[in-house]
Amino acid sequence: MIEKKEVSIDEAAEIIKRGGLVSFPTETVYGLGADAFNAQAVARIFEEKERPSFDPLIVHIADKQQWEDFCQTELKELVNRLAEKFWPGPLTLVLPRKNNLPEIVTSGLSTVGVRMPAHPVALELIRKAGTPIAAPSANKFGMLSPTEAAHVLKQLKGVDAVLDGGKTTVGIESTVISLSREGFVMLRPGAITSEELERILPQISAPEGGTGLVSPGLLKSHYSPRKPLYIEGESLIKGEKENAGYIALQKTSEKLPFARIEYLSENGDLKEAAIHLFSALHRLEESNVDFIVAQPVPESGIGIAVMDRLRKAAYQYRNEAE
Ligand code: TXA
Ligand code: MG
Repeated sequence: MIEKKEVSIDEAAEIIKRGGLVSFPTETVYGLGADAFNAQAVARIFEEKERPSFDPLIVHIADKQQWEDFCQTELKELVNRLAEKFWPGPLTLVLPRKNNLPEIVTSGLSTVGVRMPAHPVALELIRKAGTPIAAPSANKFGMLSPTEAAHVLKQLKGVDAVLDGGKTTVGIESTVISLSREGFVMLRPGAITSEELERILPQISAPEGGTGLVSPGLLKSHYSPRKPLYIEGESLIKGEKENAGYIALQKTSEKLPFARIEYLSENGDLKEAAIHLFSALHRLEESNVDFIVAQPVPESGIGIAVMDRLRKAAYQYRNEAE
């Protein structure tokens, strides 16, 4: 299946130019890409992902100035400073959009998310296609994000091609922020931490509890495996542990009562935990365990983003969910 859809970067760029859908690797997760200026191609992304039309897409660029092709902001100097420091890399900036971008890309919002990914295949694809590429993560809406090509094909049958760039090196999605003169608002935690961002500008407010859907990425349930997922200490675990899979932060010599165990890191390193989180969930989803139990990780640095993904993945099975 993968072989059939595997193409060269040149061929993939041609597919994008003709309005097709290409899944490509980024440093965070695989994206499902289309020409950002082709409304019909972008509509196919929503169809293939079964994504609600209210959830806007991130537009991917291949050089630090390309955002100006479809965004306009009074905060140009600030954007340039952030781009200089964090691009290419896992930071998405939500900026006011220009009218040349089809409305479907931004779900009718007056802003657009933009980022320059740190992956040579992604950058070459965007350059060769000669257009910015709109791309959400290449999974069905609400399901596990893909960190390797096989994960993409497991969920998306209608993609025209998949560029296989091996396993992604960050493993969770980009940090999404919106900007104002006063500072930034964190819309989705990710690989770039608030501490890193605060070296350039202050964080001004957390959207939690705010009214309206500031960012659809703030939906409480997301990234879910097809099996019940419980977080140790946060969920009421229903079922026998010997029929369950366990996700542990680090290797231990302790004998654990689970049928299968996935260790996210040898020694509890949170960056490694982020890299391995989705692949561990994919393996357990495919295994014969009845349900999955995850050990919480410390909420510092990238651990905040890891717990964000785990809590959203486990949302329907958490105690407060009722
Ligand atoms: O790392 C990533 O960001 C990956 C790779 C492929 O680049 N992409 C990704 O896209 O995670 P997606 O569509 O799965 O998540 C994009 C998030 C969503 O939560 C969406 O609501 C938010 O970004 N977003 C996009 N445009 C926005 C906007 N104009 N205002 C607020 N939030 C926005
Ligand atoms: Mg996603």
